[in-house]
Amino acid sequence: MTTPVGTTRLIVQLLGIIIACFLTINGVESNPSDAVFDIINYGAKTEPKFDNAQAIIKAWKAACDSAGPAKVVIPAGDFMAGEVVFAGPCKSPTTTVEIQGHLFANIDPSTYTGGSWILFQRVDNVVMTGGGTINGEGKHDWKYANGDSLLAVSLRLEEVGHGKVNNLKFVDSMGYHIEVMGSHDIDLQKLTITAPGDSPFTDGVHLTGNTNVNVTDSVIGTGDDCVSIGHGNQNIMVARIICGPGHGICVGNLGKHADEKDLKGVTISNCTLTGTTNGARIKTYHDSVPITASDIIFQDIQMNDVQNPIIIDQHYNSSTTTTQSKVKIMNARFMNIRGSSASAVAVSLNCSSSAPCEGIELADIDLVPAGSTGPLTSACSNAKTVLKGTQNPPGPANCV
Ligand SMILES: *[C@@H]1O[C@H](CO)[C@@H](O)[C@H](O)[C@H]1NC(C)=O
Ligand SMILES: *[C@@H]1O[C@H](CO)[C@@H](O)[C@H](O)[C@H]1NC(C)=O
Ligand SMILES: *[C@@H]1O[C@H](CO)[C@@H](O)[C@H](O)[C@H]1NC(C)=O
Ligand SMILES: *[C@@H]1O[C@H](CO)[C@@H](O)[C@H](O)[C@H]1NC(C)=O
Repeated sequence: MTTPVGTTRLIVQLLGIIIACFLTINGVESNPSDAVFDIINYGAKTEPKFDNAQAIIKAWKAACDSAGPAKVVIPAGDFMAGEVVFAGPCKSPTTTVEIQGHLFANIDPSTYTGGSWILFQRVDNVVMTGGGTINGEGKHDWKYANGDSLLAVSLRLEEVGHGKVNNLKFVDSMGYHIEVMGSHDIDLQKLTITAPGDSPFTDGVHLTGNTNVNVTDSVIGTGDDCVSIGHGNQNIMVARIICGPGHGICVGNLGKHADEKDLKGVTISNCTLTGTTNGARIKTYHDSVPITASDIIFQDIQMNDVQNPIIIDQHYNSSTTTTQSKVKIMNARFMNIRGSSASAVAVSLNCSSSAPCEGIELADIDLVPAGSTGPLTSACSNAKTVLKGTQNPPGPANCV
């Protein structure tokens, strides 16, 4: 005999299971009770030359204005659009943008006045998901790329609180694929990011000035860093990323601009890098005021044929100057890094002479030469280093 309390509990559990099933249909997290705002009802068309930005923005405004949870739906089909801003604050307690189809960027560069293609700005509790594709059509613009004025970012989150981006494919961004800045509690997962290995400044995910960001369970192959973590970030977790081609996973650039803020708490774990130009990298310029970069962990990383598997470079962009970086790197640990190196100097800790690195740890490093690369070595300057466990190649004796 089941008691009424037991029955109630059973019903609650069953409901929980049913709801959980709904939530995970097609691996897409979305809430079936959301009010739906389909862009077709706001004038969207699949005609190749029709710019759908206004239709998408109208659907967003209606969703954002509704009293309950709401979602904008971009259905199956090919939709071209220029700059789209999803601005907050919203009345809706959660607002989802569900991209089921293919979104293509307008190839007219003058469309992008704010440096981004799709922008979530000053909005809380947002989700972007849907299994669809976001194609930046960057191949038309890469020839104009340069490091000082970047091309439009495919997706930017700016001053967003509690945001999720998952189950989407990003292809051929003009600038970065995803940029998160000045935001907090952001979860990026189950993303596929693809651009050619020679496409310029097409970082997979770039973070600046955020607190609590996870980037996990994604496959990223591009022409620049798979994930790059700039200044002002705190409590960042990057895990289970498959990276390559690309420039690896990077803490930096730091120290490029005068007004930069400290970075603290970055953990990068369980990643696999294949054929990348760098592996676990920290890089700094010499232009900032003194800042610190502390509590950085690279752990459980598989390197396959990676050119600079472990590298701290505090002389980035400094080949023509003797000015030293003022970024102080403290407590940076490289643990259980294994696999193969495509260059002879597999471990390079090249710190600033005016702000030497402190608390560097190399633990269980097991790297072998890839192909015909000669015997591997370590190099080091201005870094106080602790060695633990396996050291293959032998750790840098001059810094211990
Ligand atoms: C990031 O992941 C950690 C560990 O799984 C979790 O505790 C935390 O809530 C996550 N943060 C966000 C913003 O998703
Ligand atoms: C990394 O992998 C190890 C071994 O499979 C596992 O124990 C650990 O929980 C994983 N951590 C993350 C953050 O994925
Ligand atoms: C830094 O890079 C910029 C452009 O990328 C270049 O113009 C400048 O000369 C470089 N500075 C140094 C010191 O190498
Ligand atoms: C550090 O970098 C500087 C500038 O690129 C270079 O001259 C020096 O040889 C490097 N030191 C080590 C130990 O790799």
